Amino acid sequence: MTLRAVVRGVGHYLPERIVPNSEFEMLVETSDEWIRSRSGIERRHFAAEGQTTSDLATAAALAALANAGLAASDIDAIVLATSTADLTFPSAATMVQANLGMSHGFAFDLQAVCAGFVYALSTANGMILSGQARRVLVIGAETFSKLMDWADRGTCVLFGDGAGALVLEAQEMPGTPQDRGVLSTDLHSDGRFKDLLYVDGGVSTGVTGKLRMQGKEVFRHAVEKLAETAHAALDKAGLSGEDVDWIVPHQANIRIIEGTAKRMQVPMERVVVTVQDHGNTSAASIPLALSVGVARGQIKPGDLIVTEAIGGGLAWGAVVLRW
Ligand code: UT7
Repeated sequence: MTLRAVVRGVGHYLPERIVPNSEFEMLVETSDEWIRSRSGIERRHFAAEGQTTSDLATAAALAALANAGLAASDIDAIVLATSTADLTFPSAATMVQANLGMSHGFAFDLQAVCAGFVYALSTANGMILSGQARRVLVIGAETFSKLMDWADRGTCVLFGDGAGALVLEAQEMPGTPQDRGVLSTDLHSDGRFKDLLYVDGGVSTGVTGKLRMQGKEVFRHAVEKLAETAHAALDKAGLSGEDVDWIVPHQANIRIIEGTAKRMQVPMERVVVTVQDHGNTSAASIPLALSVGVARGQIKPGDLIVTEAIGGGLAWGAVVLRW
């Protein structure tokens, strides 16, 4: 028998305020038609004044715990993927830990921008396989609305706020590609591309800063690198594109999602798409899509899932798991 990190529960939280594309027509020179046709986005959620990433993360964590039929006392560790922690430190994960009433175990943030959730899944999987934790809350939560330059039409129309969470649990499995749980991971980064997507603030500047992106360049890297990493992860699991029930991609742009699926020779009927409703929620987009995919009745126990993401760094990667 082999130890696997199996998904025991999933949940998400979206802030109440929904912002349609039309609201941006009053802010910058843009149109609903441009935003829809270039990105696939129709609306996004924005956090309320004073609502922080740890608030969103806590709500998603509670939803995932309820779905798992577990309490915070059953959790050994919290890994929170985010680039928009409430404060420079302490971690937003420790704030979630306190909100959940946990004084045991350990909690930390992980920052790999839009690839954050894939990195967090891989990290949590490693902790479970090495016996450091038996049950891990893996959360992706972001408030990118706080990083927007509202005068930059090339970025401000693309991002949204939200959170999603999984409970991963150590379970004994036969040790075949038919096992439930995380089957393989494939991570990459290349810091030579750090200027393609970054925030022009941080401790070295004294200000929080705003998001800056060379969209066309990131787009070019995305389709190629995402299909490559997804194939590499499938190879490691001894599986191929034909075995995939669902691609659950990072939700940045419908054209990137379609381009990657095409390269993987997986039809769009087998791709979970939420970008129209959420916009790009960075590290939150994959757990949000997993949770929505389950709620829609798309993802079912036993389904083979490939998640893939790319973002600032550049950092990218994929995880193959059976639900
Ligand atoms: O999650 C992290 C990873 N990030 C991504 O994956 C984002 C990757 N990039 C993209 O999704 C796309 O590149 C964008 C959606 C950002 C842009 O689409 P594009 O087809 O690459 O457009 P573009 O940047 O080449 O811009 C085309 C034109 C430009 O005008 P000119 O120079 O051709 O006259 C832009 O100024 O569209 C203009 N434009 C806009 N027009 C109306 C840029 N933003 C807007 C806007 N409304 N909001």
